[in-house]
Amino acid sequence: MSEDKNKPNAVAVEAGKEYYWCSCGLSNNQPFCDGSHKGTEKEPVAFTAEKSETVYLCGCKKTGSQPFCDGSHEQL
Ligand code: FES
Repeated sequence: MSEDKNKPNAVAVEAGKEYYWCSCGLSNNQPFCDGSHKGTEKEPVAFTAEKSETVYLCGCKKTGSQPFCDGSHEQL
């Protein structure tokens, strides 16, 4: 995994819209689930945007506050 991949993904979300964050790291559509987790024990994490804003979704998949970056990538 490259260093850039571990960085959080800044994503513009829309209020009221549901998103599925990839928790397994295999998706080719990061940071969102594309179904690649099939066969693993991982499941995507669904979240609904409360407002239209830019959020920082975890890229390293080690965050303690899924799906959002909590700075864990700094420890990698
Ligand atoms: S592809 Fe990673 S959780 Fe679905």
